[in-house]
Amino acid sequence: MSDNLEDLKNNHQDFSKGSLDSNEEKNPYVLFGRWFDEAIASGELEVNACVISTVSVDLQPSARIVYLKEMVDNSFVFYTNYSSQKGKEIAINPKASMLFFWPKNERQVRIEGEVVKLPEAISDAYFESRPLQSKLGAWASHQSDELVDSSEIHNRMAYYSDKFGDVVPRPAHWGGYALMPQCIEFWQGRPSRLHDRIVFTSFEGTWKIHRKNP
Ligand SMILES: Cc1cc2nc3c(=O)[nH]c(=O)nc-3n(C[C@H](O)[C@H](O)[C@H](O)COP(=O)(O)O)c2cc1C
Repeated sequence: MSDNLEDLKNNHQDFSKGSLDSNEEKNPYVLFGRWFDEAIASGELEVNACVISTVSVDLQPSARIVYLKEMVDNSFVFYTNYSSQKGKEIAINPKASMLFFWPKNERQVRIEGEVVKLPEAISDAYFESRPLQSKLGAWASHQSDELVDSSEIHNRMAYYSDKFGDVVPRPAHWGGYALMPQCIEFWQGRPSRLHDRIVFTSFEGTWKIHRKNP
């Protein structure tokens, strides 16, 4: 067993980098943008990497990291394979959560809501901007299906490269999802575990703001 894993109980992180007040900002998108910029300024790596969680038909949650790629009409957009595990789960149950962790500023942002497919034109435009190999990969990868032999995927890359050359269309099974938030929680680490948690809940076109116990 790893010594570090054995020693986890003795790891007591105290948080002291900032605080968050419920009067600080009434618009969660403005606050999200500010925190996003501050994460970049603090030298955080992979600032737009987030955990997206979905729930299967038998109520088993699963989580994985994706990249936030755009904000479209105040929704949080990521791109993936619509036939992947997450895609199949979203097709049955569109409720999902997205989680950002920015440790340098001792912050977490937790977003919950429903996911819809982006309009095709927006997915087309993003797909077009991707590098050639990524475009071919979107065709070659049957994301989340069992891969019996890794030569299969290399063969498919070669097949689609021959088929399309340099002009690769977006596959119908690949595109964007927009998470439309019902609730956004901003968490700022504080000393003695008395963290600040400010929750914005969408209600009849406005945002209700409340504080939660840490
Ligand atoms: C840093 C990082 C970024 C990732 N970004 C994406 C992404 O934007 N889209 C995506 O489909 N998978 C992305 N992945 C891979 C996913 O975590 C996951 O393995 C994949 O989407 C299959 O998930 P599923 O089988 O649960 O559907 C990323 C992984 C990491 C570690």
